[in-house]
Amino acid sequence: MIVTTAQLFKVAYGRFAIGAYNINNAEQAMGLFRGCIQSQAPFIIQISKGARKYTDKRMLEAIIRAADEIFPEAIFAVHLDHGDEETCYDCINSGFYSSVMIDASHDPFEKNVEITKRVVEAAHAKGISVEAELGMLGGVEEDIQVDEGNACLTDPDEAKKFVELTGCDSLACAIGTSHGAFKFKGKQALRFDVLAEIQKRLPGFPLVMHGSSSVPQEEVARINAAGGQIKDSAGVDPKEYLPAAKLGVTKINIDTDGRLVWTRVHREYFRDHPDQFDFRPPGKIFMEEYAKFIASRNELLGSAGKLEEVRKAISG
Ligand code: G3H
Ligand code: 13P
Ligand code: ZN
Repeated sequence: MIVTTAQLFKVAYGRFAIGAYNINNAEQAMGLFRGCIQSQAPFIIQISKGARKYTDKRMLEAIIRAADEIFPEAIFAVHLDHGDEETCYDCINSGFYSSVMIDASHDPFEKNVEITKRVVEAAHAKGISVEAELGMLGGVEEDIQVDEGNACLTDPDEAKKFVELTGCDSLACAIGTSHGAFKFKGKQALRFDVLAEIQKRLPGFPLVMHGSSSVPQEEVARINAAGGQIKDSAGVDPKEYLPAAKLGVTKINIDTDGRLVWTRVHREYFRDHPDQFDFRPPGKIFMEEYAKFIASRNELLGSAGKLEEVRKAISG
């Protein structure tokens, strides 16, 4: 059942976080739904601009509709990840999305406010909620690369002002994470101090943590043992998901980790079966492994086992 992002946030706020997982194809969708049913967790499906372009945006929507029929127990929201203004309007007008993210975080504060406000107005007119971003994460997202030196943490006072000026429904904050598999050069450092200051100024307001993959080192080691060359990778300590949730982080975005599961499964499969060329056997393994991975993340986010609670809250 597709629900609004706001409904999920209302149940989760301050207690646990909803996992927001990107999908690009049918295998990822199957693994995601299976993992969320196995762990009895509500979730958010994210679609990036790149995912919409990968095949066709209608293909992803059809996959999600089909998954909704195959897994009638599932409760989830559909969200545009890192949208620009044009893509936000396209999603708002499609009638399919529960929420959109307008990412104008690379623009100066005033311009970010101006763009976000326009998107909020259009989205609210259709009952859709808006995630905005303030501060700048490091790493790579789509065609934008931000090096560590240019990444900047969210200023708590600015965050309060930004939310008041724009009327956005949730805020992605830069608190030390970055996108991709190379998040930290030295020791990992989530800035709980900054997060606490933001929550103090915006009590009850849902915050979002991007760049939250944990980049499991055993996964990377297996990839490299099967011919990969991923060096100096580092991710977020997943034991920090719940403490972040207690400080108002209601949505935690995880994408890179799923790509690592895919890469490990396929590299190992074709290393061990060099005579094979059918993509279905490794595809099957991937769906199982991805489901296991998703269930394990939902446990760490605290969303596992919350499906019935959310169902009751939604049905009133
Ligand atoms: O933050 C970006 C997400 O990992 C989505 O990545 O834009 O390559 O689909 P993508
Ligand atoms: P990761 O690269 O850490 O998986 O972050 C994903 C993300 O923030 C999607 O918006
Ligand atoms: Zn992101």
